[in-house]
Amino acid sequence: MRKIIFVTGNKGKFSEVKEILAAKDIEVIQNSDGYPELQENELEPIAAYGAKWVAEKLGMPVMVDDSGLFIKALNGFPGPYSAFVEENLGNKRVLKLMEDEEDRTATFKSVIGYCEPDGEPLTFTGIVEGNIAFEELGTGGFGYDPIFDYNGKTFGELGDEFKNTVSHRRKALDKFLEWLE
Ligand code: IMP
Repeated sequence: MRKIIFVTGNKGKFSEVKEILAAKDIEVIQNSDGYPELQENELEPIAAYGAKWVAEKLGMPVMVDDSGLFIKALNGFPGPYSAFVEENLGNKRVLKLMEDEEDRTATFKSVIGYCEPDGEPLTFTGIVEGNIAFEELGTGGFGYDPIFDYNGKTFGELGDEFKNTVSHRRKALDKFLEWLE
């Protein structure tokens, strides 16, 4: 069985990636040590830098996942600042910002960064389109899942099993797997 080290402190990301890759006979091992996160407007350079930094530090091939929620009416906010906003404002404050907005379209984006020691980092991007709900709904998933409406139900309501078939993370991992093979 192939093994891969996934550097993340985020339990939700880890359990999704573990589940998706288990179906492909890949064992995912979590490493929570972290890495420096660049301040960039795009997720790709953040994931690439993180993957290279850890691959060099550990001397092993590693993957990372940098992701975020991009809300159209808020010009892409919180985007690369999604973790900070989630921790310091939370879903209710994001809903407040969206109170008077008619255009509720939003995109979840996940960038998988992969790097081997002495190699150059590669990135694989996946997106899923949805709408910002009017209230938090459902208890599944993590982070923004209860406010991300996918075809009439939030990821929080739809639960991980379904989310893992359509999510931004699933799409990014599919591209990564295609490359691995
Ligand atoms: P980062 O990738 O560590 O910069 O953090 C991204 C942040 O976006 C996380 O802390 C979560 O709050 C949020 N996030 C990323 N992916 C998802 C997802 O699949 N569902 C809900 N929230 C997510």
